[in-house]
Amino acid sequence: MNRKKKKPAPIIIANWKMNGTLIDSMQLFKDLRKQIHESLVGCEIVICPPFTLLRDFAEKVPGTGVKLGGQNCHHAHHGAFTGEISAMQLKDMMCDYVIVGHSERRIQSSEGSELVQKKAAHAHTEKLTTIICIGETQYEHDNDLTKIIIREQLLHSIPKSANNSNTIIAYEPVWAIGTGKTPTDEQISSTHQYIKKIIAEELPHIEDSLRIVYGGSVNKDNAQELLANDHVDGLLVGKSSLNMIDFWGIIDAAS
Ligand code: 13P
Repeated sequence: MNRKKKKPAPIIIANWKMNGTLIDSMQLFKDLRKQIHESLVGCEIVICPPFTLLRDFAEKVPGTGVKLGGQNCHHAHHGAFTGEISAMQLKDMMCDYVIVGHSERRIQSSEGSELVQKKAAHAHTEKLTTIICIGETQYEHDNDLTKIIIREQLLHSIPKSANNSNTIIAYEPVWAIGTGKTPTDEQISSTHQYIKKIIAEELPHIEDSLRIVYGGSVNKDNAQELLANDHVDGLLVGKSSLNMIDFWGIIDAAS
């Protein structure tokens, strides 16, 4: 009998970006914890709050099933890097994950793939799981450059230390972030399959296939359809993770 392989539980990652005060965020987390306590959650949940909130979260997350992540890290262990945060400091704040190479950093802070690779490699030495973001801009999408961009970003952003348990790839088309636009199911399947092919053929030191999550205008109404795609292992959520009703709708869809 040709039985379909069951997909592992998806991972839902909240990227709060530069949003949230202590009081609002703690309330959101309290509501989330209550919902988790009352429901059967069938997905991994990771929250990546701004750095200012990590300490408070570090005290609150143990025992809730929610994991913590940073939104960025430096590639050095410590030192004279004003305004930066190291992977070691994230680990110190109970983080298990860190986002690297988000398009907002690639574009607004001119971070290239080589830097992203250094950050990811260093984060692995601190036993953080890296969420390495890749994705094409609207211009690149319109000019049929998606595969070229994705390949370049993969080959230069993924460090040698990457493996199936310490690395997740987040495909976030820049044109879908915060725009309300999402790629079609076929476009997502084709890009995620292409990502797998590049990793298998051109990064052979990575033995197992990496998890690939989708991000860009995910909301409670499209989450179920996105997660139904066999090539989507989870979601990276921006705006809709800042509101309890929306975020819970996504977790519910994933469960
Ligand atoms: P939105 O969900 O707000 O489109 O943001 C996606 C994102 O950038 C997550 O990292």
